[in-house]
Amino acid sequence: MNKKRRGNKESAEGRKIVMATKEQTSVSEQFRTIRTNIMYSSVDKPIRSVLFTSATPGAGKSTIAANMAIAYAQAGKRTLLLDADLRRPTTHYTFEVMNRIGLSTAIVSDVELVDLVKHTDYDMLDLITSGPIPPNPSELLSSKRLEQFMNTLNIHYEMIIIDSPPLLSVTDAQILSKRADGVVLVTNVENNNRNQLLEAKDLLNRADANIIGLLLNQRDVRSGGKDGYYYYESASEKSWQHNLKHKTP
Ligand SMILES: Nc1ncnc2c1ncn2[C@@H]1O[C@H](COP(=O)(O)OP(=O)(O)OP(=O)(O)O)[C@@H](O)[C@H]1O
Ligand SMILES: [Mg+2]
Repeated sequence: MNKKRRGNKESAEGRKIVMATKEQTSVSEQFRTIRTNIMYSSVDKPIRSVLFTSATPGAGKSTIAANMAIAYAQAGKRTLLLDADLRRPTTHYTFEVMNRIGLSTAIVSDVELVDLVKHTDYDMLDLITSGPIPPNPSELLSSKRLEQFMNTLNIHYEMIIIDSPPLLSVTDAQILSKRADGVVLVTNVENNNRNQLLEAKDLLNRADANIIGLLLNQRDVRSGGKDGYYYYESASEKSWQHNLKHKTP
């Protein structure tokens, strides 16, 4: 518990979006496949908000959330990327926008949505950054105001992609899982640990979260980590058992 998050110095430089073009690159194709898999993961109740979280820091949540948001926007869905990591937010770096106001501002004060939302260079994709880092993120995220704010966002957007902190460090993602139709657990193949994944899954289950998938994020070591590699499994018990048995060290 309370493991230190990776001390990577964040800046716009070094954070990249791979869904930048409509080209049929294999990585972009993988994000489109994940989008399709998420759609099929729930037939009766369409998934309109997905929380991306992980057991431990640095799994690639923010990278995946940003690229998935673009994948949804490119599919013609009115999409919002919501940076709900109120501790180590990065979406404002990724999209190179200001973070003077954002989610934390919306929770503690009355701000018009139009003043909060940042349009991105991608058609159909809006962004709400974290806003200033508050002293009490968990309290803010479990507030009634956050619930009301999410209800408002649900009216305006067809898909909301939520970025969050890791589960085993703080309770934020567990709290946020109640506000999302589905949760995808991201794990970095390099630092994969079966017990931590199971612990994370347990925390989500205890929060009654709808875990819809496990996403393995693998840096391509041959290209010096330049290209990503993403593998999505649905959250059926069978897949989980398979993943945890065969895909973790
Ligand atoms: N598949 C990938 N290929 C190459 N680089 C990657 C890949 N996934 C993530 N990265 C890089 O690894 C670093 C950590 O990724 P990211 O910030 O998305 O992780 P995170 O889970 O959001 O971390 P945190 O727990 O601190 O929020 C970033 O610099 C990102 O650009
Ligand atoms: Mg992150």
